[in-house]
Amino acid sequence: MPTMLEVSGLDHRFGDHQAVREVSFTVETGQLACLVGPSGCGKSTLLRCIAGLIAPSGGTVRLHGDAVTGVPADLAVVFQDYSRSLFPWLSVAGNVEFPLRSAGLSRDERRGRAQEALDWVGLGDVGRKFPWQLSGGMQQRVSIARALASRPALLLMDEPFASVDAQTRFELEDLLRRVQRDQQSTILLVTHDIDESVYLGDRVLVLSPSPASIVADLTIDLPADRDQITTRESARFVALRGEIARLLRSPAQGAAEQDLSERELAEQDLASSLATSADAAGRPTSVTDGRR
Ligand SMILES: Nc1ncnc2c1ncn2[C@@H]1O[C@H](COP(=O)(O)OP(=O)(O)OP(=O)(O)O)[C@@H](O)[C@H]1O
Ligand SMILES: [Mg+2]
Repeated sequence: MPTMLEVSGLDHRFGDHQAVREVSFTVETGQLACLVGPSGCGKSTLLRCIAGLIAPSGGTVRLHGDAVTGVPADLAVVFQDYSRSLFPWLSVAGNVEFPLRSAGLSRDERRGRAQEALDWVGLGDVGRKFPWQLSGGMQQRVSIARALASRPALLLMDEPFASVDAQTRFELEDLLRRVQRDQQSTILLVTHDIDESVYLGDRVLVLSPSPASIVADLTIDLPADRDQITTRESARFVALRGEIARLLRSPAQGAAEQDLSERELAEQDLASSLATSADAAGRPTSVTDGRR
């Protein structure tokens, strides 16, 4: 898969306070990557730098190869606070259509796109209502529809389900995974919730406490079809959430464990190369004997 997002050596400072330090990673096209990190570690700052909403103090962000210097036209962002992100004076359909006004589409095309996006999130029949007539979970679905209507190359989401109750949160997580797979969207989602990151992600990037830096990049090797009950009960899910919890509790120890396993691998490589050269020379050494 081609690379959609490339973040290299990203740093951000607010005056003396360093919020993000040396963050580098890529997101492939069609991937749902989660960034998980402790409260206040710099997640939103990192996401805002990636969105081009704030200029980073150092490093670069590239979206499909183009340097990000302002908010790219083909990028959409969903924030946590749905109640402040929708216009109360516009209908639901009007809200979803709104960003399409600058996309050079005809009125009919805008309407069609808005209706399609509302269908994706299961709100095809509430376009004429106003946001304040909907529940919190429905309003957040409208925000997701609005973001997807422009068919963005990258969708950034900052704690998008943090303001809804647990049951609604589960429904929205399932909805996001379904829509992401159907539309093959590329999504980078920030959360402080370990379970949510594992349940949603194809991949989880674990952040350190402030200043945010990446302490681990884990592939979530769970089946693509996930279920809120059985997936969360599975041994692999429990193992992954434990691994992330340990990394968050003690990033240095996590890094040390990673260093250790890398050292063990290096030692194994050394042992096998010694064994190979010894075998080739026909003179087994005590080192290779000892390690076998
Ligand atoms: N505009 C700003 N000016 C100065 N400092 C800021 C600004 N925005 C954020 N910070 C500081 O940068 C640090 C990281 O903040 P940020 O909001 O990125 O963290 P976060 O991980 O998203 O937090 P939360 O878990 O509460 O959402 C905090 O110490 C915060 O006070
Ligand atoms: Mg935040």
